[in-house]
Amino acid sequence: MELYVPVILNICALISLCLAYQNLRMTPRIIHPNSSVWSVPLPKEEKNAVFYLSPQSALYVGGEEALYRLNRLNCTPEKNYKIAAGSHTCKGKPYCQNHVTFVGQLLGDLTVCGTNAYNPSCWRMDDERFQKINMTWTEQLAPRIPGANYNILITGNQTYSTLPRKSNNAASIMKPIFRMINGTDPLLYTGDNLMNKPHFVKSLVVEKENRLQDKILLFFTEDNSITRTTEKRVSMVAQMCKGERGSEKPSTRYVFSTALKSRLICGNKKAQYYPDLQDIYFLQGKTGNVIYGLFTDAWNHSAVCSYKTEDIELAFSTSSLFGASKKNLNIRPGTCLSELTPEVTSDEASNFPELTEWIWPSGNQEVFQTLTHYRRIVVDEITAVNQESYRVLILATDNGTVHKVVEQNDGALNILELRPFSQKGQILYLELEQREHAIYVGTAREVSRLPLDDCTAYNTSCVDCIQSRDPYCGWLQGECQSILTTKSHRILQNLTQGAMCEQDAITQPIIGDSLAPRTDVQVPRKTMYSLTCPAVSNHATYSWKNGDVEMECCMRQNGICYLFLERVTNPGKYQCLVQEMATEHVILEYDLMLPNNATRMQYNWFLGFTFLLLTVMQHNALL
Ligand SMILES: *[C@@H]1O[C@H](CO)[C@@H](O)[C@H](O)[C@H]1NC(C)=O
Ligand SMILES: *[C@@H]1O[C@H](CO)[C@@H](O)[C@H](O)[C@H]1NC(C)=O
Ligand SMILES: *[C@@H]1O[C@H](CO)[C@@H](O)[C@H](O)[C@H]1NC(C)=O
Ligand SMILES: *[C@@H]1O[C@H](CO)[C@@H](O)[C@H](O)[C@H]1NC(C)=O
Ligand SMILES: *[C@@H]1O[C@H](CO)[C@@H](O)[C@H](O)[C@H]1NC(C)=O
Ligand SMILES: *[C@@H]1O[C@H](CO)[C@@H](O)[C@H](O)[C@H]1NC(C)=O
Repeated sequence: MELYVPVILNICALISLCLAYQNLRMTPRIIHPNSSVWSVPLPKEEKNAVFYLSPQSALYVGGEEALYRLNRLNCTPEKNYKIAAGSHTCKGKPYCQNHVTFVGQLLGDLTVCGTNAYNPSCWRMDDERFQKINMTWTEQLAPRIPGANYNILITGNQTYSTLPRKSNNAASIMKPIFRMINGTDPLLYTGDNLMNKPHFVKSLVVEKENRLQDKILLFFTEDNSITRTTEKRVSMVAQMCKGERGSEKPSTRYVFSTALKSRLICGNKKAQYYPDLQDIYFLQGKTGNVIYGLFTDAWNHSAVCSYKTEDIELAFSTSSLFGASKKNLNIRPGTCLSELTPEVTSDEASNFPELTEWIWPSGNQEVFQTLTHYRRIVVDEITAVNQESYRVLILATDNGTVHKVVEQNDGALNILELRPFSQKGQILYLELEQREHAIYVGTAREVSRLPLDDCTAYNTSCVDCIQSRDPYCGWLQGECQSILTTKSHRILQNLTQGAMCEQDAITQPIIGDSLAPRTDVQVPRKTMYSLTCPAVSNHATYSWKNGDVEMECCMRQNGICYLFLERVTNPGKYQCLVQEMATEHVILEYDLMLPNNATRMQYNWFLGFTFLLLTVMQHNALL
């Protein structure tokens, strides 16, 4: 057995080396033991599922020839509807069914649209019945096949879309544009020059006190024209005045005369930068309006950047236009007017739609960057017990897990991983219900509602509760509780450090203290022996101590910290210590004694050896 001691030490060195290379703060601190208890399966797999959270009643999921109504509070199924395709002639073609592509409120009615066997249609849902709507703009609301890339913006009774109009003229199966498809006249659309092979990410409205200044922001990625930088694709934001009337010039009367675009940068001015926009979340919070962008790079590593809406507006109202020669126009391109835009101004915007200036993130740096591949983001805001406002970023990974990242004063911190589903699958849907501080997540097979103030992951002790640094959770009356439901001011949180648990928070390990659970164990002489200790926090350092002697290392596997003793030569006290956020305490303590017990010896020797073998194999596989 002597042979294995150096091996153990080498593995320890390897593990610590690996940890040092990761950004520890962006590794989830804890994995929620069973967040999948809330998941609800869909009746069948829906690869192209679309979701609609109705403000009053239910969560709707649209699928292949089907619409499911789920309970809003626990996602349990309430009703399944069949919406079959009408008469068709596409037998044998791949999408010869009705795939639901839209569920939502349209002109005051709950409306469902579907591909309807390559003949897009919409239905009004009336007293549980579906009534086909005869609209001239259906094709621009619903694509002919599911899974297409397009963007729809519905704001009040105005609807915008990037889906093309049906045209008999083949030459005009043309560049994608963003156009108002229903609303108050004029129905404006963007010019041909604005976007270059766009992939649409999101569109939204930024409302101003003066309604004339309301802006539409359209986020997309596009082919780079390579005149300024060398990337193939770049992330862009286009801005237009929501209430503009169009141009004075007769030939472009119905073209958005205020539409301009700029590069949306995530990275700092010196270093790494993430060109590929994945998702946008618009936080209209207590501490201002902020747009969060989730980006990835060529290796699928992610970064999140935030942009104040005022900064975006400022860039659009001050920057020169790229490639334009200096002209003294009376009215700058991009100015919101209540009358038609003068021809010289609209011509300038249409010829040079890109700003010289780029949009840089707040503070000129990322909120965080990480090796993890994230696909979606929402952001909640919560006032903690200390009356400070915290922003909590909820991120969906590409393998079906969800991370809770808190923007702390000392930087972003990944505090929790949720595994909401019982089956692996890509997350298709992530929505925040702000009033209830809950998220809805969905895959092709399952749906789940997760309350953000669930504190069960840290309910083991006061130290566990406050060291979670979860702004929704605090310790009160022997329990880690939601601060939203507990209105007591005595609830204990430790977001900025300094707060302490009354009993078990200690800065020095108290040797022999009776607070740590203690186990007396009889161990065999002259054999390998292992001790175990729970190690749930990925941000903490766990170690072992024998009396006053620090032991070399702690082998961590699946939330357990092991200590292997080649043979027990020093009986007595063995303590498992945890160190995190400048505090250290004893988790548990063993008192080892040395009589003879042959059965136990065999068993533990076998276990220890098997574990060692597995670990060695795993690390060899990794190398
Ligand atoms: C997680 O599972 C354990 C054991 O099955 C149970 O005691 C606990 O209540 C569960 N937690 C939640 C949040 O359901
Ligand atoms: C939208 O249209 C519906 C039906 O035409 C109407 O009842 C409603 O008042 C309109 N809403 C707004 C905000 O204009
Ligand atoms: C639907 O509209 C078309 C023209 O857009 C018209 O020919 C047809 O009769 C209408 N159908 C119904 C049921 O109103
Ligand atoms: C908007 O759609 C409704 C319903 O189809 C239609 O009656 C109305 O004329 C449309 N408005 C415009 C401006 O197209
Ligand atoms: C990045 O992720 C996408 C989607 O999951 C995948 O198709 C692609 O292969 C990944 N690229 C790399 C370099 O891992
Ligand atoms: C998802 O992938 C990450 C690494 O990218 C891994 O650490 C994690 O365990 C995976 N989660 C699941 C549920 O597979």
